Amino acid sequence: MPYGWHRCERPPNQASPGKKARCDLPVEFHQANAHHLSCPDNTFDAVFCECTLCHLDIGQALKEMVRVTKPGGRMGIHNLCWQKDVPDTIQQRFAEVEKERPETLAGWGSWFDRMGLVEIRTVDKSQVYLRWVKEDKRRLGLFGQFKIILAVLKRWGYAGYRGIRESQQI
Ligand SMILES: C[S@@+](CC[C@H](N)C(=O)[O-])C[C@H]1O[C@@H](n2cnc3c(N)ncnc32)[C@H](O)[C@@H]1O
Repeated sequence: MPYGWHRCERPPNQASPGKKARCDLPVEFHQANAHHLSCPDNTFDAVFCECTLCHLDIGQALKEMVRVTKPGGRMGIHNLCWQKDVPDTIQQRFAEVEKERPETLAGWGSWFDRMGLVEIRTVDKSQVYLRWVKEDKRRLGLFGQFKIILAVLKRWGYAGYRGIRESQQI
């Protein structure tokens, strides 16, 4: 639940390092380990986790999300999911390259069920993702894409670039 009016230092992933972000929302940002959140039980009306759960110990992170959500509150999770028939070898390779272990849609549903959540709704939006990638490439143009490749090579070398390509193909 947003509270107070706070000039934030840097909302996660929203501003370049070294630049101060302006924040018009009444939100305070706190950095914490998702496995051990630093707020008391039943703090929030709604809790969201954006693209992070499959980096984590899923059971422990969900337990923490449930703990800090008020009874009757809402949880929203946006994450990758495997299609049903993806071979284990590909899932294993993705875990090596990306350090992420997505579930299938049914697998996510089963986690939420086991955590005692009710009114569970799981939706596959994979088609949206493919459209985003296409739109991003069009928006960036060839030069923009080339600049990104150069930046990746400079920072992570050819192995890093190859890892990203492989992950995109998976
Ligand atoms: C794929 S990024 C998603 C970032 C952002 N939510 C987004 O959608 O752009 C996953 C993030 O999880 C963070 N992360 C990994 N382990 C974490 C942990 N134990 N507690 C909190 N954050 C963690 C990483 O630092 C990284 O920023």
